[in-house]
Amino acid sequence: MKIILIGFMGAGKTTIGKILAKKLKMDLIEMDELVLKKSKRKTINEIFALDGERRFRELEIEVGRELKNVDEVVISTGGGVVMNKIILDYLKEGNGQIIFLKTSFAEIVKRLKNTSDRPLFKDKNKAKKLFDLRRRLYEEYSDYIVETDNKNPQLIVKEIEKLIFL
Ligand code: S3P
Repeated sequence: MKIILIGFMGAGKTTIGKILAKKLKMDLIEMDELVLKKSKRKTINEIFALDGERRFRELEIEVGRELKNVDEVVISTGGGVVMNKIILDYLKEGNGQIIFLKTSFAEIVKRLKNTSDRPLFKDKNKAKKLFDLRRRLYEEYSDYIVETDNKNPQLIVKEIEKLIFL
């Protein structure tokens, strides 16, 4: 099985992915890391600044395509994968289950307060517009939705396990 975590920046995809993968004895694949490797840049900010978002999205699609045949993994996606549905189609191939980590914008603002590694979160108003644009897509593309506000990671992981293995 493939477990695919989607959700907005700061939803906890990486944190939850790590715990879940360890518990299920699966590997964790971080799409952002693979995109970064492909880009030959040092940071995601650098890709956006020097190559542009469009290039970032192209690399993200390539990475998605290369993950078509992986199995028994947890995949932590970048928050923007829903902008190119083809990526989720690739990832879902085989037995991919998509889990949407649903988090309120207020909670995301709190969680990302001290970070600067997200080019699309530099301007909070623009980020809110993106959030509003994408929320429907996350819901539409997911097999399961897990709310994350006011829950600790262990509880969220338990909820995911229940959903998937019931
Ligand atoms: C993005 C989210 C980031 C990263 C890039 C673009 C987005 O990943 O892929 O900065 O468009 O929402 P996280 O969701 O892990 O922050």
